[in-house]
Amino acid sequence: MKKFVVAILLVAMACTSLFAQGSAETAAIVTNAQKPVVFFNRQPSDPVTGVIDMEVMNWNDKTYYVGFDAAGGGAVQGQLIVDFLATADPAVIDRNGDGVIGYVLCIGDVGHNDSKARTQGIREALGTWTGSTDPGVENTQQGSANVGGTTMPVVELDSRAMTGTDGTTWNANAATDAMSNWATRLGDQIDMVISNNDGMAMGCLQASNYPEGVPIFGYDANADAIEAIGAGRLTGTVSQNVDAQATATLQVIRNLLDGLTGDAVVTAGITEPDQYGNKISASVDYVAETKALLAQNTGVNASNWTEYQAGARDAGIKQTDAPEKNVLLTIYNSGDNFLSSSYIPALNYYAPLLNINLTIVQGDGQNESSCLDRFTNLGNFDAYAINMVKTNSGWDYLDKLQY
Ligand code: BGC
Repeated sequence: MKKFVVAILLVAMACTSLFAQGSAETAAIVTNAQKPVVFFNRQPSDPVTGVIDMEVMNWNDKTYYVGFDAAGGGAVQGQLIVDFLATADPAVIDRNGDGVIGYVLCIGDVGHNDSKARTQGIREALGTWTGSTDPGVENTQQGSANVGGTTMPVVELDSRAMTGTDGTTWNANAATDAMSNWATRLGDQIDMVISNNDGMAMGCLQASNYPEGVPIFGYDANADAIEAIGAGRLTGTVSQNVDAQATATLQVIRNLLDGLTGDAVVTAGITEPDQYGNKISASVDYVAETKALLAQNTGVNASNWTEYQAGARDAGIKQTDAPEKNVLLTIYNSGDNFLSSSYIPALNYYAPLLNINLTIVQGDGQNESSCLDRFTNLGNFDAYAINMVKTNSGWDYLDKLQY
């Protein structure tokens, strides 16, 4: 009798699932798991090794990453600093006249590929690279650089991750505290300050004892940093082309929701005009092995800062009459300087042009749950754009899309 009941139940379950499948096909219901997922700014990867998580990236055939060429950017930042030193006057830059160029470094987030790439690019350019992107003098060696025609030794005096007391990474307040401590402890050994983002660089400049006139470099080309270059307070930064990244994030989603497949997903509107006549003006490259679209970086200093002043948007993107779509987008930390002052304004500018209704939810930069708890009502959205708190949290979001 028990066996008979089990058998009846099994037949009933099989029929229900067949029926469900049949009706799903006729009604063409798209499950959340079949919808586009675009990770951006924080690439799914191992926080220790930086290796990209291809299981996450292969979640479905509509999963992509949009960012910028992180390794190339590290090299651009290193070159910017090397070029600056090449034209510097050794008698001015070497503040204590000890014949050595000393610098301090704000790292940002040791578990983030962008941060690792910048530390590597800087240390390689200055010869202090030993194969490690970790903070600490013990992870560096003495390097050298051409300073105004003279080869001088270069040393990293100190470096810190810059984690806030609340656990947030890339923390500008932590940079202010560190700078103030460095200025007291290391005094005029500091000839240069290097930061892996503008938020921390501006944080260093906030230190009341910031050694006046000491060259300082950031990364991101945020509006306040560009103005600081104009005012002679910041020496240089690197643009990771936020407009190209924000548009590419939206354009890939647009393409997938418009039913494009194959190469067209990563070329329409990106390397060639899409059906609405839009095309990102800057170059964005597709790396098939990692399903990543990457914008290019450019160095910004006193010679070209006016080209990067706020307000310059990509004229290649115009209002479309594309069908309206709803996209849920997460931001790992509402307090992140780059995302809040550069990325979100760009998204908010381009999304209406592409007829995308963005719902942006923002986390606290420490706990994944601060984003995940707002990654809800998933059935109401046509696609998802994800910026994780931790680069290895991809599955926490994808798991929620399974059901
Ligand atoms: C930016 C940082 C930012 C981080 C957030 C990086 O690409 O350069 O300024 O804090 O992204 O993930």
